[in-house]
Amino acid sequence: MRDVTVLGIASEIFPLIKTGGLADVAGALPVALADEGVRVTTLVPGYPSVLAGLAGVESLRHFTELFGGPARILRGRAGGLDLLAIDAPHLYARPGSPYIGPDGRDWPDNAQRFAALGAVAASLAVGEGNGVAPDIVHAHDWQAGLALAYLHHHARRPGTVFTAHNLAFQGNYPPSLMAELGLPASDFAIDGVEFYGNLSFLKAGLFYADRITTVSPTYAAEIRTPQGGMGFDGLLRTRAALLSGILNGIDETVWNPATDPHIAARFSTARPGRRSINKEALQSRLGLATTPGALLFGVISRITWQKGLDLLLANLPGLLGLGAQLALLGSGEPGLEDAIAEAAAAHPGQVAAVIGYDEALAHQIQAGVDALLIPSRFEPCGLTQLCGLRYGALPVVARVGGLADTVIDANEAALAAGTGSGVQFAPVTQEMLAVAIQRTASLWREPATWRRLQRNAMRTDVSWRRPAARYVALYRALITERAH
Ligand code: ADP
Ligand code: GLC
Repeated sequence: MRDVTVLGIASEIFPLIKTGGLADVAGALPVALADEGVRVTTLVPGYPSVLAGLAGVESLRHFTELFGGPARILRGRAGGLDLLAIDAPHLYARPGSPYIGPDGRDWPDNAQRFAALGAVAASLAVGEGNGVAPDIVHAHDWQAGLALAYLHHHARRPGTVFTAHNLAFQGNYPPSLMAELGLPASDFAIDGVEFYGNLSFLKAGLFYADRITTVSPTYAAEIRTPQGGMGFDGLLRTRAALLSGILNGIDETVWNPATDPHIAARFSTARPGRRSINKEALQSRLGLATTPGALLFGVISRITWQKGLDLLLANLPGLLGLGAQLALLGSGEPGLEDAIAEAAAAHPGQVAAVIGYDEALAHQIQAGVDALLIPSRFEPCGLTQLCGLRYGALPVVARVGGLADTVIDANEAALAAGTGSGVQFAPVTQEMLAVAIQRTASLWREPATWRRLQRNAMRTDVSWRRPAARYVALYRALITERAH
């Protein structure tokens, strides 16, 4: 079979720029697909860290005018990835977050910035400029959504796949921007980009894509319901035959406890006991009491409503009452950040919170904590629980989205059968989280059971192998369908 070529479109990509799991997926999926005969080149905005990280750069194309200024399309490589970057200083030469300015608000020209991403993608996808059209365009999340609206107007275009990583982020803007963004007025319709009176980038992706994927089977079902659809459930029910849920994997070279350069002691399924060295190192680094017997919970998370950390704060007295400790790393909503920092200050030695973004500390938490708390109200896939499984940090998770699909609850039946890899709870309430924390503490009091669960967790397949095979099948089916 001949190779498949894919133009990926993403607003963040590990290791160059990352705010969350989208970057991890955009950075790891192309590598996994390369083993399957799929060659992905990913188009990304040329933020400062992207331009600085590109090697072997050549200029591919020039736009005299791209939403308010000139732009060059650069081709280069980084971290084993083939990349195209849009060098457009008027849009992207801003340090820090790709989406938010120093005042904590979205950049006022985000519509133009990500319309530019879509417009360049559409132009490259039909072979303009470099002359080579890919077989498939694969757009990720709302920032890439407009590419599919622009492509829709081309008679000859590649097959398109849109992956929804999180329907909470929609890219909704006033309809008055239609003309400026180069969209015909007729596209502002229910059969188009209109979404409750706004122009929605996410709607463009979900409506125009030949295939829609999302990042877990359970989330694929949840988003077809009014409770989980965030306004898109009707559209997704209509398009259900084209929608599938494909779980994410994790990059097993970045997340490998046997080789991890960030942690005090490397370990593996054969030598899980060495985790205790990492636990003590983490406790010391964070100023927690170095008590080996204390059940140490960890959190690595964006601090937003989605992640349910307010429910965790409400459960802190109960957690500490069990003699447990908490190590938290995260950043996000200022109000909740402050509440977390205050809780840590009130319980020195028992609760530690690092507010910020710290890649190395994320690895140290995975390697050192006994259990990882993830009380998300919704979670399309979730990657931290996959890392937790691999590192033997038992995930304690809300039974939603990808968390439901990847963690096996250590209930009586599972324990009897020798399975189980974590703890699940539902519904996502303060009370049920309390029960989950108590259940985890009971399991902790039985070291043999705990060790077995830890072994099960570490043996779970969290690689990209199976997901990559599913994307390949999807791409090939779409190519065959469009050839007829
Ligand atoms: P989401 O994409 O919704 O934020 P995921 O679980 O899919 O959630 O992915 C989060 C990714 O970001 C993981 O790789 C996690 O380790 C990382 N991460 C989240 N917060 C931080 C932080 N404060 N510092 C370092 N890494 C973080
Ligand atoms: C989103 C979701 C998260 C998912 C990630 C990668 O940020 O919130 O659940 O793991 O995308 O698909």
